[in-house]
Amino acid sequence: AIERTLSIIKPDAVAKNVIGEIITRFEKAGLKVVNATLKQLTRAEAEGFYAVHKERPFFNDLVNFMISGPVFVQVLEGENAIAKNRELMGATDPKKAAPGTIRADFAESIDANAVHGSDAPETAAVEIAYFFGK
Ligand code: CMP
Repeated sequence: AIERTLSIIKPDAVAKNVIGEIITRFEKAGLKVVNATLKQLTRAEAEGFYAVHKERPFFNDLVNFMISGPVFVQVLEGENAIAKNRELMGATDPKKAAPGTIRADFAESIDANAVHGSDAPETAAVEIAYFFGK
């Protein structure tokens, strides 16, 4: 089915000047950018976005990292977009990410891992609405 998913190019990848290279991977895989914005998240915005992780030990580091510089937030649309995006990203920990994936090629650590992508249709809807409204 045609789906939409939320993709964030994180501060590490924005700072490395690879927004274009990452978007090219999405486009070559048949995903279309249907909305996008470059923005500096406030602490409150980052905390709200990652609220499901509030009790996790890495929450504070994650929030501090996500507000360390601008992020590129986009909505990707296409056939099977949620799974396709996750496949292109590779595993959360770049050390475990398959060769040729975005995280294997651009990420340094589990926090500075270049990209975020929604993990399911329900979270995709919530995450898209969080940044772009209904
Ligand atoms: P992301 O897909 O943006 O969702 C939550 C983020 O928390 C994740 O990518 C990682 O960057 C970060 N994180 C840090 N430590 C962990 C961990 N142990 N497990 C999962 N995510 C982690």
